[in-house]
Amino acid sequence: MEIIKSNKSRISKVDFSNLTFGEEFTDHMFTCDYIDGKWINPKIVPYKKLKMDPSSSVLHYGQSVFEGMKAYKDSNGEVFMFRPEENFKRLNISAKRLSIPEFPKKYFFEGLEILLNFDREWIIPGIGNSLYIRPFVFANQAGVQASPANKYKFLIICTPVKAYYSENVNVLISEKYSRAANGGVGFAKAAGNYAAQFYPTSLAQKKGYEQIIWTDANNHEYLEEAGTMNIFFRIGNNLITAPNNDRILDGVTRKSVIDLCRYLNINIEIRPISIKELISAHNDKSLKEIFGSGTAVVILPIKSFNYKNIHYNLIENKDPQSEFLKKKIMDIQYNIGEDPFNWRYKVPKSTFSK
Ligand code: COI
Repeated sequence: MEIIKSNKSRISKVDFSNLTFGEEFTDHMFTCDYIDGKWINPKIVPYKKLKMDPSSSVLHYGQSVFEGMKAYKDSNGEVFMFRPEENFKRLNISAKRLSIPEFPKKYFFEGLEILLNFDREWIIPGIGNSLYIRPFVFANQAGVQASPANKYKFLIICTPVKAYYSENVNVLISEKYSRAANGGVGFAKAAGNYAAQFYPTSLAQKKGYEQIIWTDANNHEYLEEAGTMNIFFRIGNNLITAPNNDRILDGVTRKSVIDLCRYLNINIEIRPISIKELISAHNDKSLKEIFGSGTAVVILPIKSFNYKNIHYNLIENKDPQSEFLKKKIMDIQYNIGEDPFNWRYKVPKSTFSK
Protein backbone atom coordinates (compact mmCIF):
# COMPACT_ATOMS: atom_id res chain seq x y z
CA MET A 1 0.00 0.00 0.00
CA GLU A 2 1.32 3.44 -0.88
CA ILE A 3 1.77 5.64 2.18
CA ILE A 4 2.37 9.36 2.18
CA LYS A 5 2.78 10.84 5.65
CA SER A 6 1.63 14.28 6.52
CA ASN A 7 4.66 16.37 7.38
CA LYS A 8 2.94 18.35 10.13
CA SER A 9 0.23 17.17 12.51
CA ARG A 10 -2.71 19.50 13.19
CA ILE A 11 -3.44 17.79 16.51
CA SER A 12 -2.09 20.63 18.67
CA LYS A 13 -4.67 23.00 17.12
CA VAL A 14 -7.62 20.86 18.28
CA ASP A 15 -9.44 21.57 21.53
CA PHE A 16 -10.40 18.02 22.53
CA SER A 17 -12.47 19.23 25.47
CA ASN A 18 -14.72 21.22 23.17
CA LEU A 19 -15.46 19.12 20.09
CA THR A 20 -18.47 19.53 17.83
CA PHE A 21 -19.40 16.15 16.34
CA GLY A 22 -17.64 15.59 13.02
CA GLU A 23 -15.94 18.93 12.49
CA GLU A 24 -12.26 18.16 13.04
CA PHE A 25 -10.52 15.50 10.99
CA THR A 26 -7.32 13.60 11.70
CA ASP A 27 -4.08 14.04 9.76
CA HIS A 28 -4.54 11.15 7.32
CA MET A 29 -7.14 9.43 5.20
CA PHE A 30 -7.38 6.19 3.24
CA THR A 31 -8.36 6.31 -0.42
CA CYS A 32 -8.90 3.71 -3.13
CA ASP A 33 -10.17 4.02 -6.73
CA TYR A 34 -12.39 1.82 -8.84
CA ILE A 35 -11.29 2.04 -12.46
CA ASP A 36 -11.75 -0.42 -15.36
CA GLY A 37 -13.62 -2.93 -13.21
CA LYS A 38 -11.08 -3.10 -10.36
CA TRP A 39 -10.35 -1.46 -7.01
CA ILE A 40 -6.81 -0.12 -7.32
CA ASN A 41 -4.35 2.34 -5.72
CA PRO A 42 -5.11 1.80 -2.00
CA LYS A 43 -3.28 4.63 -0.24
CA ILE A 44 -2.87 6.44 3.04
CA VAL A 45 -2.39 10.12 2.34
CA PRO A 46 -2.58 13.38 4.29
CA TYR A 47 -6.20 14.52 4.82
CA LYS A 48 -6.91 16.92 1.97
CA LYS A 49 -9.54 18.25 -0.42
CA LEU A 50 -10.60 16.10 -3.37
CA LYS A 51 -10.64 17.20 -6.98
CA MET A 52 -13.86 16.35 -8.77
CA ASP A 53 -15.41 16.95 -12.14
CA PRO A 54 -18.58 19.06 -11.85
CA SER A 55 -20.44 16.31 -13.71
CA SER A 56 -19.32 13.55 -11.26
CA SER A 57 -22.31 11.26 -10.98
CA VAL A 58 -22.56 11.39 -7.18
CA LEU A 59 -23.29 15.12 -7.38
CA HIS A 60 -26.27 14.48 -9.65
CA TYR A 61 -27.71 11.10 -8.69
CA GLY A 62 -26.43 10.57 -5.16
CA GLN A 63 -24.85 7.18 -5.86
CA SER A 64 -23.05 6.91 -2.54
CA VAL A 65 -23.12 4.84 0.66
CA PHE A 66 -21.28 5.18 3.95
CA GLU A 67 -20.59 3.54 7.28
CA GLY A 68 -20.15 4.80 10.82
CA MET A 69 -17.75 3.08 13.22
CA LYS A 70 -15.74 4.09 16.24
CA ALA A 71 -12.30 3.41 17.73
CA TYR A 72 -11.66 3.56 21.49
CA LYS A 73 -8.50 3.66 23.56
CA ASP A 74 -8.16 1.89 26.90
CA SER A 75 -6.04 3.01 29.85
CA ASN A 76 -3.05 1.05 28.49
CA GLY A 77 -3.16 2.87 25.19
CA GLU A 78 -4.52 -0.12 23.26
CA VAL A 79 -6.97 0.72 20.48
CA PHE A 80 -10.20 -1.20 19.87
CA MET A 81 -13.08 -1.16 17.44
CA PHE A 82 -16.54 -2.58 17.99
CA ARG A 83 -17.73 -5.29 15.56
CA PRO A 84 -16.03 -3.77 12.48
CA GLU A 85 -16.82 -6.92 10.51
CA GLU A 86 -20.52 -5.98 10.72
CA ASN A 87 -19.84 -2.55 9.25
CA PHE A 88 -17.81 -4.09 6.48
CA LYS A 89 -20.64 -6.50 5.60
CA ARG A 90 -23.25 -3.75 5.70
CA LEU A 91 -21.13 -1.46 3.54
CA ASN A 92 -21.25 -4.03 0.75
CA ILE A 93 -24.96 -4.77 1.32
CA SER A 94 -25.64 -1.04 0.94
CA ALA A 95 -23.28 -0.81 -2.05
CA LYS A 96 -25.04 -3.65 -3.86
CA ARG A 97 -28.43 -1.93 -3.54
CA LEU A 98 -26.95 1.26 -4.99
CA SER A 99 -25.21 -0.64 -7.82
CA ILE A 100 -21.79 0.20 -6.42
CA PRO A 101 -19.08 -2.47 -6.84
CA GLU A 102 -18.25 -4.51 -3.77
CA PHE A 103 -15.24 -3.24 -1.80
CA PRO A 104 -12.49 -5.80 -0.96
CA LYS A 105 -12.22 -6.85 2.68
CA LYS A 106 -8.41 -6.86 2.60
CA TYR A 107 -8.22 -3.20 1.63
CA PHE A 108 -10.94 -2.22 4.12
CA PHE A 109 -9.16 -3.74 7.11
CA GLU A 110 -5.62 -2.89 6.02
CA GLY A 111 -6.63 0.68 5.33
CA LEU A 112 -8.42 0.97 8.67
CA GLU A 113 -5.59 -0.52 10.68
CA ILE A 114 -2.82 1.55 9.14
CA LEU A 115 -4.91 4.71 9.36
CA LEU A 116 -5.75 4.12 13.02
CA ASN A 117 -2.08 3.52 13.78
CA PHE A 118 -1.01 6.65 11.97
CA ASP A 119 -3.60 8.78 13.74
CA ARG A 120 -3.44 6.91 17.05
CA GLU A 121 -2.77 10.05 19.08
CA TRP A 122 -6.12 11.41 17.94
CA ILE A 123 -7.86 8.67 19.92
CA ILE A 124 -8.25 10.08 23.40
CA PRO A 125 -8.66 7.57 26.25
CA GLY A 126 -11.54 7.91 28.70
CA ILE A 127 -15.22 7.02 28.62
CA GLY A 128 -17.11 9.20 26.17
CA ASN A 129 -14.08 9.94 23.99
CA SER A 130 -13.76 8.12 20.71
CA LEU A 131 -12.69 8.44 17.12
CA TYR A 132 -15.65 8.31 14.76
CA ILE A 133 -14.62 6.53 11.58
CA ARG A 134 -16.42 7.30 8.35
CA PRO A 135 -15.80 4.87 5.46
CA PHE A 136 -17.68 5.96 2.34
CA VAL A 137 -17.83 5.32 -1.36
CA PHE A 138 -19.16 7.47 -4.16
CA ALA A 139 -19.63 7.44 -7.91
CA ASN A 140 -16.97 9.51 -9.57
CA GLN A 141 -17.57 9.13 -13.29
CA ALA A 142 -17.72 12.41 -15.21
CA GLY A 143 -20.99 12.66 -17.13
CA VAL A 144 -24.66 13.12 -16.36
CA GLN A 145 -26.04 9.92 -17.85
CA ALA A 146 -28.46 8.39 -15.32
CA SER A 147 -26.84 4.97 -14.99
CA PRO A 148 -24.37 3.32 -12.62
CA ALA A 149 -20.95 4.94 -12.88
CA ASN A 150 -17.83 3.15 -14.11
CA LYS A 151 -15.58 4.99 -11.64
CA TYR A 152 -15.83 5.15 -7.84
CA LYS A 153 -13.78 6.44 -4.97
CA PHE A 154 -13.65 4.81 -1.54
CA LEU A 155 -12.31 6.75 1.43
CA ILE A 156 -11.98 6.47 5.18
CA ILE A 157 -11.79 9.66 7.18
CA CYS A 158 -11.76 9.98 10.97
CA THR A 159 -13.02 12.60 13.38
CA PRO A 160 -12.48 12.74 17.16
CA VAL A 161 -15.83 12.96 18.98
CA LYS A 162 -17.56 13.14 22.32
CA ALA A 163 -21.29 12.57 22.93
CA TYR A 164 -23.50 13.20 19.89
CA TYR A 165 -26.23 14.81 21.99
CA SER A 166 -25.49 16.49 25.29
CA GLU A 167 -28.98 15.72 26.65
CA ASN A 168 -31.82 13.26 26.26
CA VAL A 169 -34.08 14.17 23.36
CA ASN A 170 -37.69 14.95 22.51
CA VAL A 171 -39.17 13.41 19.37
CA LEU A 172 -42.08 14.10 17.06
CA ILE A 173 -43.96 11.14 15.59
CA SER A 174 -44.25 11.60 11.85
CA GLU A 175 -47.77 11.81 10.44
CA LYS A 176 -46.78 12.84 6.95
CA TYR A 177 -43.14 12.30 6.01
CA SER A 178 -41.48 8.91 5.55
CA ARG A 179 -37.87 7.90 5.75
CA ALA A 180 -38.20 4.76 3.66
CA ALA A 181 -40.70 2.66 1.75
CA ASN A 182 -41.09 -1.01 0.89
CA GLY A 183 -38.71 -2.01 -1.86
CA GLY A 184 -36.65 1.15 -1.32
CA VAL A 185 -33.24 1.79 0.19
CA GLY A 186 -34.12 2.33 3.87
CA PHE A 187 -32.06 -0.68 4.99
CA ALA A 188 -28.97 0.68 3.23
CA LYS A 189 -26.73 3.40 4.56
CA ALA A 190 -27.35 5.41 1.42
CA ALA A 191 -26.32 9.08 1.60
CA GLY A 192 -29.69 10.20 0.23
CA ASN A 193 -31.60 8.56 3.11
CA TYR A 194 -30.07 11.15 5.38
CA ALA A 195 -30.53 14.14 3.05
CA ALA A 196 -34.24 13.29 2.82
CA GLN A 197 -34.55 13.57 6.61
CA PHE A 198 -33.17 17.09 6.91
CA TYR A 199 -36.29 19.02 5.88
CA PRO A 200 -38.87 17.13 8.01
CA THR A 201 -36.41 17.18 10.92
CA SER A 202 -35.99 20.94 10.62
CA LEU A 203 -39.80 21.31 10.84
CA ALA A 204 -39.82 19.17 13.99
CA GLN A 205 -36.99 21.25 15.45
CA LYS A 206 -39.01 24.43 14.94
CA LYS A 207 -41.63 22.85 17.21
CA GLY A 208 -38.99 22.02 19.84
CA TYR A 209 -38.38 18.32 18.96
CA GLU A 210 -34.81 17.30 18.14
CA GLN A 211 -35.70 14.25 16.09
CA ILE A 212 -38.54 12.52 14.27
CA ILE A 213 -39.89 9.07 14.91
CA TRP A 214 -40.30 7.66 11.43
CA THR A 215 -43.49 5.71 10.89
CA ASP A 216 -44.36 3.21 8.16
CA ALA A 217 -44.88 4.82 4.77
CA ASN A 218 -48.21 3.04 4.13
CA ASN A 219 -50.41 4.35 6.95
CA HIS A 220 -48.09 6.03 9.46
CA GLU A 221 -49.30 3.59 12.10
CA TYR A 222 -46.11 1.77 13.12
CA LEU A 223 -43.01 3.16 14.83
CA GLU A 224 -39.87 2.34 12.89
CA GLU A 225 -36.81 4.51 13.60
CA ALA A 226 -35.93 7.71 15.44
CA GLY A 227 -33.95 10.24 13.43
CA THR A 228 -30.70 8.48 12.50
CA MET A 229 -31.19 5.83 15.21
CA ASN A 230 -33.00 2.53 15.67
CA ILE A 231 -35.61 2.69 18.41
CA PHE A 232 -36.60 0.63 21.47
CA PHE A 233 -39.68 0.90 23.71
CA ARG A 234 -39.86 -0.55 27.21
CA ILE A 235 -43.44 -1.43 28.01
CA GLY A 236 -44.06 -3.30 31.25
CA ASN A 237 -41.29 -5.88 31.46
CA ASN A 238 -40.61 -6.03 27.75
CA LEU A 239 -38.26 -4.19 25.48
CA ILE A 240 -39.70 -3.92 21.98
CA THR A 241 -38.08 -2.95 18.70
CA ALA A 242 -39.33 -3.12 15.13
CA PRO A 243 -38.16 -6.06 13.02
CA ASN A 244 -35.60 -5.53 10.28
CA ASN A 245 -37.05 -5.19 6.84
CA ASP A 246 -36.17 -3.24 3.73
CA ARG A 247 -37.17 0.03 5.42
CA ILE A 248 -35.11 -0.30 8.59
CA LEU A 249 -31.36 0.00 9.00
CA ASP A 250 -29.77 -3.16 10.35
CA GLY A 251 -28.02 -1.22 13.12
CA VAL A 252 -24.92 -2.74 14.72
CA THR A 253 -25.84 -1.21 18.10
CA ARG A 254 -29.45 -2.39 17.64
CA LYS A 255 -28.38 -5.99 17.10
CA SER A 256 -25.91 -5.75 20.00
CA VAL A 257 -28.72 -4.55 22.32
CA ILE A 258 -30.87 -7.49 21.19
CA ASP A 259 -28.06 -10.03 21.74
CA LEU A 260 -27.20 -8.54 25.14
CA CYS A 261 -30.85 -8.70 26.24
CA ARG A 262 -31.05 -12.35 25.28
CA TYR A 263 -27.77 -13.04 27.09
CA LEU A 264 -28.89 -11.16 30.22
CA ASN A 265 -32.42 -12.60 30.24
CA ILE A 266 -34.07 -9.26 29.54
CA ASN A 267 -37.35 -9.81 27.70
CA ILE A 268 -36.89 -8.57 24.18
CA GLU A 269 -39.59 -8.61 21.52
CA ILE A 270 -38.82 -7.97 17.89
CA ARG A 271 -42.17 -7.10 16.38
CA PRO A 272 -44.07 -4.20 14.86
CA ILE A 273 -45.16 -1.66 17.46
CA SER A 274 -47.95 0.76 16.70
CA ILE A 275 -48.57 4.35 17.78
CA LYS A 276 -51.84 3.13 19.28
CA GLU A 277 -49.99 0.67 21.52
CA LEU A 278 -47.48 3.36 22.54
CA ILE A 279 -50.16 5.87 23.52
CA SER A 280 -52.19 3.28 25.39
CA ALA A 281 -49.03 2.18 27.29
CA HIS A 282 -48.34 5.81 28.11
CA ASN A 283 -51.89 6.28 29.37
CA ASP A 284 -51.91 3.17 31.57
CA LYS A 285 -48.36 4.01 32.77
CA SER A 286 -46.83 0.77 31.51
CA LEU A 287 -44.56 2.76 29.16
CA LYS A 288 -41.30 2.89 31.09
CA GLU A 289 -38.70 4.06 28.58
CA ILE A 290 -37.97 4.88 24.97
CA PHE A 291 -34.44 5.01 23.63
CA GLY A 292 -32.58 5.25 20.36
CA SER A 293 -29.49 3.25 19.42
CA GLY A 294 -26.74 3.92 16.91
CA THR A 295 -23.00 4.12 16.51
CA ALA A 296 -22.85 7.86 17.04
CA VAL A 297 -25.09 7.95 20.14
CA VAL A 298 -24.60 4.36 21.41
CA ILE A 299 -27.89 4.56 23.39
CA LEU A 300 -29.86 7.76 23.79
CA PRO A 301 -32.91 8.07 26.06
CA ILE A 302 -35.95 9.87 24.69
CA LYS A 303 -37.71 11.99 27.28
CA SER A 304 -40.91 12.99 25.49
CA PHE A 305 -42.82 12.52 22.27
CA ASN A 306 -45.47 14.38 20.37
CA TYR A 307 -48.26 12.89 18.31
CA LYS A 308 -50.96 14.92 16.61
CA ASN A 309 -49.95 18.01 18.59
CA ILE A 310 -50.26 16.27 21.96
CA HIS A 311 -47.10 16.26 24.03
CA TYR A 312 -46.41 13.13 26.10
CA ASN A 313 -43.74 13.24 28.82
CA LEU A 314 -42.15 10.01 29.94
CA ILE A 315 -42.15 9.39 33.67
CA GLU A 316 -38.63 9.61 34.99
CA ASN A 317 -37.28 6.12 35.41
CA LYS A 318 -35.23 5.35 38.53
CA ASP A 319 -33.62 2.26 37.08
CA PRO A 320 -33.38 2.77 33.32
CA GLN A 321 -32.56 -0.19 31.15
CA SER A 322 -31.09 2.25 28.64
CA GLU A 323 -28.35 3.19 31.08
CA PHE A 324 -27.69 -0.41 32.06
CA LEU A 325 -27.41 -1.55 28.43
CA LYS A 326 -25.34 1.46 27.43
CA LYS A 327 -22.86 0.71 30.20
CA LYS A 328 -22.64 -2.95 29.16
CA ILE A 329 -21.89 -1.94 25.57
CA MET A 330 -19.43 0.80 26.50
CA ASP A 331 -17.60 -1.49 28.92
CA ILE A 332 -16.98 -3.79 25.97
CA GLN A 333 -16.01 -0.91 23.67
CA TYR A 334 -13.52 0.59 26.14
CA ASN A 335 -12.05 -2.78 27.18
CA ILE A 336 -13.37 -2.49 30.72
CA GLY A 337 -15.90 -5.31 30.96
CA GLU A 338 -16.33 -8.91 29.85
CA ASP A 339 -16.93 -9.44 26.17
CA PRO A 340 -18.92 -12.69 25.96
CA PHE A 341 -19.56 -12.30 22.24
CA ASN A 342 -16.06 -11.35 21.12
CA TRP A 343 -17.26 -8.05 19.76
CA ARG A 344 -14.14 -6.15 20.72
CA TYR A 345 -11.57 -5.94 17.94
CA LYS A 346 -8.07 -5.01 19.01
CA VAL A 347 -6.33 -2.90 16.39
CA PRO A 348 -2.90 -4.46 15.97
CA LYS A 349 0.04 -2.11 16.16
CA SER A 350 0.95 -1.60 12.54
CA THR A 351 4.22 -2.69 11.07
CA PHE A 352 4.27 0.66 9.29
CA SER A 353 5.81 2.90 11.87
CA LYS A 354 4.97 6.54 11.81
C1 COI B 1 -24.25 6.62 13.10
O1 COI B 1 -24.74 6.43 14.21
O2 COI B 1 -23.15 6.17 12.73
C2 COI B 1 -24.99 7.39 12.13
O3 COI B 1 -25.17 6.95 11.05
C3 COI B 1 -25.38 8.72 12.51
C4 COI B 1 -24.66 9.68 11.65
C5 COI B 1 -25.54 10.09 10.51
C6 COI B 1 -24.09 10.81 12.40
